Amino acid sequence: MDIRIQDLTMRFDNITAVNHLSTTIKDGELVSLLGPSGCGKSTTLMLLSGLYKPTSGRIYFGNQNVTELDAEKRQVGMVFQNYALYPHLSVLKNIMFPLKMKKMNKIEAREQATEMAELLHIGHLLNRKPGQLSGGQQQRVAIARALVKKPNVLLLDEPLSNLDARLRLEMREEIRRIQQEVGITAVFVTHDQEEALSISDRVMIMNNGVLQQDSEPQQMYKKPANEFVASFLGNPPINFITVERHRQNEHYKIKHTAQPIHLSRLKHFDRTTLKMGIRPESLFVTTQNNSLFRGDIIHIETIGRDTLIRVDLGESTVRALVDPKKKLQIGDVCFLGAEEEEIHYFSSETGERLKGGKVDDDQTDLEEYA
Ligand SMILES: Nc1ncnc2c1ncn2[C@@H]1O[C@H](COP(=O)(O)OP(=O)(O)OP(=O)(O)O)[C@@H](O)[C@H]1O
Ligand SMILES: [Mg+2]
Repeated sequence: MDIRIQDLTMRFDNITAVNHLSTTIKDGELVSLLGPSGCGKSTTLMLLSGLYKPTSGRIYFGNQNVTELDAEKRQVGMVFQNYALYPHLSVLKNIMFPLKMKKMNKIEAREQATEMAELLHIGHLLNRKPGQLSGGQQQRVAIARALVKKPNVLLLDEPLSNLDARLRLEMREEIRRIQQEVGITAVFVTHDQEEALSISDRVMIMNNGVLQQDSEPQQMYKKPANEFVASFLGNPPINFITVERHRQNEHYKIKHTAQPIHLSRLKHFDRTTLKMGIRPESLFVTTQNNSLFRGDIIHIETIGRDTLIRVDLGESTVRALVDPKKKLQIGDVCFLGAEEEEIHYFSSETGERLKGGKVDDDQTDLEEYA
């Protein structure tokens, strides 16, 4: 079932938790809602579930306007961070519970619950109580219970947050597998970018209740719509370097320094200042002739297979992930080059992505400028 959200706003007193949100989630898609704490992810999910009614705007499930429809009539399955299982009931009875509420006969309910348990790989745990299960197993029970009613939509609010790193990795793959096997439309809330980027068909990134970008995961990483998205995604974080144009010779240099920046694309921008965004993995150590930046190395760390250096450019510093075989030392002068097509440009006033001097809103490819 596809979901259409039209101009949805939710206010609590003086806080606008969701601010004019519009999008369409296609049938069978898994969409992640990503963003920092308090950006409105859970509120959006509660609005979809029907547990909250919006201040304004509309929600459609298929062709049906469900905006005023109560939660129990929307046929949504919900999974939360804290599992919310009934501790005194067995796994089987937990999964059967929604069917019991629907007054399905017991034999049929048992059959369907058992079938769902098999799909979730917990068929061998049916007689246990939740307290006798690991976190990952409890979350499987919660998902089975959410799916057993055959809902139209599955809503998951940070379902993996209580699990340790390894289990989280396993469970996020499981959620994807189950979602695809059932073919259900799912909305998955997380503040973990890796989780969102790895399992979703599409990611919606929010900040302060406002949708910042709505696109495929790779596209979002490669073409962030604004400074916020660029800085939210990526670890180690993207570098921002503010550059300004020299009044006489029209060349750009790093702001408040004398370091010129030689990039042909900068000619397209008719601006006094702008922000360049370059991810650490887009920078490499090179020779003076091919370099974009020059500076002293002020920090070096080796993390697994990567070496991360920090280079002082005067007014700002940049981080670069470089070849660990390079012999580098703190205090060395270092020349850094960058993949030109991997340099992002943002307005220093609004933070919006720039393209050829204009705000980049036409979604065509960057490559033509490379
Ligand atoms: N019932 C409520 N009453 C008043 N304010 C609320 C209520 N629920 C949420 N808010 C506020 O709305 C904003 C969005 O909250 P929401 O819970 O949707 O954020 P979130 O993105 O889920 O954050 P987190 O990652 O911390 O779970 C916050 O500023 C929050 O304080
Ligand atoms: Mg939340």
